[in-house]
Amino acid sequence: MRGQLSLAAIAALTASVSGAVVPIAKVPGSAGGPVEAARISVPPWFLSLAAELDLIAPTDTSSVPTVSSQPTTAPFQSLPVDQTPLPVQSTPPIPSSTPEPLSSSSPTEIAHPSSANPTPPTSPSETPTVKTCPGPAQSSSDVYWLRAQDHNGAGAGYAPFTSEPNKYPVFRNAMNYGVVNDGSGDQTARLQKAIDDDGVGGSRKGSGVTRNPAEVFLPGGIYQLGSTLTLTVGTIIVGDPSNPPIIRAAPNFQGEFLIMGYDKMNGNPETSFMMLVKNVILDTNSVSSSQSITALQWGVAQGAGLTNIQVRMPTGTSRHTGINIVAGSTIAVTDVTIIGGATGIINSNQQVNFKNVHFISCNTAFEASGGWTVLLQGTTFESCGTGVNMTTNALGSLVILDSTSTNSGPLIRFYDSSHDPGYQNSQFLIQNLQYNSKEPIAVDTNGHTRLEATTYVDTWVWGTMVPGAYAPGAAWNTHRPPQLLVNGKYFTKPQPTYAGFSDQDIVNVKTVAGHVVKGDGLTDDTVALNAILAQNAANCKITYIPFGVYRVSDTLLIPVGSRIVGEAWSVISGYGDAFKNQNSPKAVVRVGNPGDVGVIEIQDMRFSVAEILPGAKVVEINAAGQQPGDVGLWNTMVMVGGTAETSISTMCTSQDPKDCMAAFMVMHLTETSSVYIENFWGWTADHNLDSKSLFTIISTGRGILVESTKGTWLTGTGSEHHWLYNYNFHNASNVFAGLLQSESPYMQGSGEFEKAPAPWTVDPQLGDPDFSWCGPSDEKCRSALATNVDGGSNIALYNSAAWAFFDGSWNGLYNEPCQGKCQANMMRVTRAPQNFVWYSISTRMTEVIVLDGKSNPREDNHAGGWEGIIQAYGEFAG
Ligand SMILES: *[C@@H]1O[C@H](CO)[C@@H](O)[C@H](O)[C@H]1NC(C)=O
Ligand SMILES: *[C@@H]1O[C@H](CO)[C@@H](O)[C@H](O)[C@H]1NC(C)=O
Repeated sequence: MRGQLSLAAIAALTASVSGAVVPIAKVPGSAGGPVEAARISVPPWFLSLAAELDLIAPTDTSSVPTVSSQPTTAPFQSLPVDQTPLPVQSTPPIPSSTPEPLSSSSPTEIAHPSSANPTPPTSPSETPTVKTCPGPAQSSSDVYWLRAQDHNGAGAGYAPFTSEPNKYPVFRNAMNYGVVNDGSGDQTARLQKAIDDDGVGGSRKGSGVTRNPAEVFLPGGIYQLGSTLTLTVGTIIVGDPSNPPIIRAAPNFQGEFLIMGYDKMNGNPETSFMMLVKNVILDTNSVSSSQSITALQWGVAQGAGLTNIQVRMPTGTSRHTGINIVAGSTIAVTDVTIIGGATGIINSNQQVNFKNVHFISCNTAFEASGGWTVLLQGTTFESCGTGVNMTTNALGSLVILDSTSTNSGPLIRFYDSSHDPGYQNSQFLIQNLQYNSKEPIAVDTNGHTRLEATTYVDTWVWGTMVPGAYAPGAAWNTHRPPQLLVNGKYFTKPQPTYAGFSDQDIVNVKTVAGHVVKGDGLTDDTVALNAILAQNAANCKITYIPFGVYRVSDTLLIPVGSRIVGEAWSVISGYGDAFKNQNSPKAVVRVGNPGDVGVIEIQDMRFSVAEILPGAKVVEINAAGQQPGDVGLWNTMVMVGGTAETSISTMCTSQDPKDCMAAFMVMHLTETSSVYIENFWGWTADHNLDSKSLFTIISTGRGILVESTKGTWLTGTGSEHHWLYNYNFHNASNVFAGLLQSESPYMQGSGEFEKAPAPWTVDPQLGDPDFSWCGPSDEKCRSALATNVDGGSNIALYNSAAWAFFDGSWNGLYNEPCQGKCQANMMRVTRAPQNFVWYSISTRMTEVIVLDGKSNPREDNHAGGWEGIIQAYGEFAG
């Protein structure tokens, strides 16, 4: 097929090159997945590569399983439910509502008690440090601190792997591109130039993800667009949080989308990685209500984020849509307010944790147009006609958590799949709902009321239960660990903006007198960076790390008292002998020492390994806050391979993964830690983002290990392709997780070169699964666990999205999906964790969904979504 790539073959190829693959062939009866792949263009270098290869058109080998027989075990502690069908009342008229301004003072600017102990951090053998930090030392200046930084001289970001680093601007103030922000004219072309400028007269679009990072700053004002602005991977768009910029559609706007987030120059939506928009208002009010327009198309992938966003649309009858998430594999959408419009959010993304989305006067707040699992956490439905429209049976599984509906129509209109043979989609669970609307809470497509209006719902499910069967409406109370709750909800915290701080409070690591820090991808920055971090923590200064690749040959200690902001994901990259001994693993980045208490905030950073480092624990978190979330990570990632700055991208081409044991562990939340983590992606690369050859075979020993006991909140995380497990909760207590997205390594299972735990050595101290439950040659069994829950207590997991696609030797072509199931077990529970609940488990291509020594529920008996759904798992509840 050389030179004659069929569209279907390109689609199959490109649809799957990702951190998260789209369906290779649509399974009959499965949830409506993304269908755009065939129309998506791919990077030219990728196409030419593909054209060199003979592509085998993938075939669908799955069969449609039948529904399991009735179980006998009673699930959880059921409360009586009213299932009497009642006629639906008409939707109330939508009241108009005045758009509120985006809050100018970030709720994260918590005034911390002043320093209890101003001494610098200690080594682990010494007394733990306590260090909190007060709010702004100076009164806030008019200029946002980020704008006030030195972006041209010694303090400027530096992208070592772009073609002409000395001419390349990482930071772009839109005003320097001739943009006018007084609401006049058409600013699309100039803003586009600000985003795409490559510093030498061309465009950075279509030239990779991590080589050409850009941070685009928009001061307050009104930016009027006449046509669609298209975003580019590797970009952060940041508005002034004290005076958020308004991007407004002109009255004569031409186009379907005000902003196109999906970057088609980087392949399909599932590879539209690393794009963050924050502190921005989108406004379509000038466009006629009868014209169809979407403020934001957000078909994007991991590493992308939306936070502190407002969308303003006309209220009443209109054809406007706020955000349309068309396919893609993004992990989290956080702190968004959407006003007006026909629909607030339309979503067909694979899996998303929506956190604190506030819908006001939307006709329909959320429409499920596809995808496999959705968590609506902390949602407010205010004066909306319908909360969630799940009537088209296009979504696998939904959880509405810690949410409120006021003055609105039904919370959910849904397709009732309880009698469907084979795949059962549209399963949902409601937990901790405050409801003061008059209309029924849940109404099916036949107009039958399935849950009547009531002011409060603890837990209510329409879907499959383990133990138990498909429950068409079952209610019970969930005992939620009080350590995890603030005001009755699982704790959350917005990404800090430091809006109230002046530039006097900020220290740029590249301009500290007496220290030379380069970030040039060559220099060893360990000593200087450690000294600056210690000094900043002691003085409660905020550390600004402009973009760069900062190589460290020993552990970088982030002490309590630290607040760190990167620029377009500044990179800390470990290298050297300190990280090569897998029998003595060492942290590349250490977040506090064991027992330390205080503030550590980290955002917009990326942590990596510059070479094969079997002893590298990329991130270790030891610190705890005095308050929940004092220690936190936002929009931060760990990548092992795949990127511009690492030799792994060229070294790891052996079929035997023992030849590329690239890192020991992605992230360790140790026993003394307590951390809030939002939108984190830990990725062992399955392909290269920035090289001519996509092909790479990497084995990272472990994904995310959680041993914490004092309170851990994982709001929207992904952990992909790690060898023993993606998530391991070992003896952990007081853990909340909303969305755990994972993919198994593509080269495990039938035909694998190494049978897990090989090539790694099990360390029982770390709770490594040893696969002793598998026969010695059972390849499907000796594959990574998506999630291992080993003992512990008070653990509440929501919306697992655990996918497997490929097995055995890896050709890098994404064209040979598993024949039958890829692996024997996806999840495992052992040593009877106490008060452990798991709501909304979605899996793909595994025989057993949860190996628990009890019922060992199987995909074939729980068909739905991308293969399997368990909506409520309670074998260890209560
Ligand atoms: C739900 O969405 C579908 C598909 O867009 C649409 O046909 C239907 O009218 C919607 N239902 C409600 C109640 O808005
Ligand atoms: C789990 O924690 C308990 C209590 O803290 C401890 O006694 C036990 O040794 C731990 N188990 C493992 C396997 O680490």
